[in-house]
Amino acid sequence: VKKFRYLEVVKAIPKPKIVILTGAGISAESGLKTFRDNNGLWENHSIEEVATPEGFAKNPDLVYRFYNERRTQLLSKDVKPNAAHIALGKLEAQLGNHCIVVTQNVDNLHERGGSINVLHMHGELTSAKCITTGKAVNTSETIDANTLCSCCQPANAMRPDIVWFGEMPYHMDAIESHIYNCDLFVSIGTSGNVYPAAGFVSFANQCGAHTLELNLEPSNVNTEFAESYYGKASEIVCEFVSQVQSCIST
Ligand code: NAD
Ligand code: APR
Repeated sequence: VKKFRYLEVVKAIPKPKIVILTGAGISAESGLKTFRDNNGLWENHSIEEVATPEGFAKNPDLVYRFYNERRTQLLSKDVKPNAAHIALGKLEAQLGNHCIVVTQNVDNLHERGGSINVLHMHGELTSAKCITTGKAVNTSETIDANTLCSCCQPANAMRPDIVWFGEMPYHMDAIESHIYNCDLFVSIGTSGNVYPAAGFVSFANQCGAHTLELNLEPSNVNTEFAESYYGKASEIVCEFVSQVQSCIST
């Protein structure tokens, strides 16, 4: 099979629209655990207990602690964006609003790597929301049952601004319209286990985009991609970006 067919797409269109879906794998080399790899987050924690509304209702302190630990680790000095995040930031610097990152990740490494157009469909560790109004505020602090909102009188408790299993993800309308209009759909570092994110590639195919999977190993939806390259994100994403940059006729 001819390699680098995605470059034919990029060469044929002056400023191609590229949608990039990312998952935990793009942050693995920054030291953040993925979910389903060996020793992943879901090996050490039960999804029901820490990533469902029922789990939060049953034992809120456990859930506050789980996300406080992940936020503290994320904001510690030794967790930094890796070469893959930085490469995507450079691609957006060249393509502007024709390059959109749709991430399932709740870390802020895309932003710290230079990306600006980032849609967090599963929420963000650096955000907390009122359990009553859902109004979100930026936070780098730990939150617990005593952290109160400033949008209600009397004040209510806050919860992690994370989309849990069974809840609707954020920005779905924007994501669908970006995929509908894109020329190239790239999936990086996700196992294709969780919907609706795992279904984006088939929607992109229906909309006529060229679809590319960049991952450590084939995902659960790898057969839906027109093209795929496997390896560590810090290597294959940099290769992808430098190839595209050399073909974009600015
Ligand atoms: P799902 O059933 O589509 O998830 C599929 C995978 O998630 C399963 O293969 C399993 O690995 C895991 N999973 C989901 N629920 C589980 C459970 N109760 N116990 C064990 N494993 C479980 O997930 P869903 O419930 O259909 O998710 C629906 C919504 O939740 C989606 O909108 C998704 O975006 C959101 N979501 C958020 C997070 C998060 O942590 N931010 C995680 C997953 C899903
Ligand atoms: N480079 C590229 N890919 C990698 C790397 C790496 N260095 N390390 C791991 N991967 C790949 C793995 O092969 C795996 O396919 O990243 C993927 C990680 O998959 P998951 O752990 O399932 O993470 P993700 O796909 O993001 O999970 C989706 O499920 O539990 C929910 O909310 C959670 O957003 C998450 C969603």
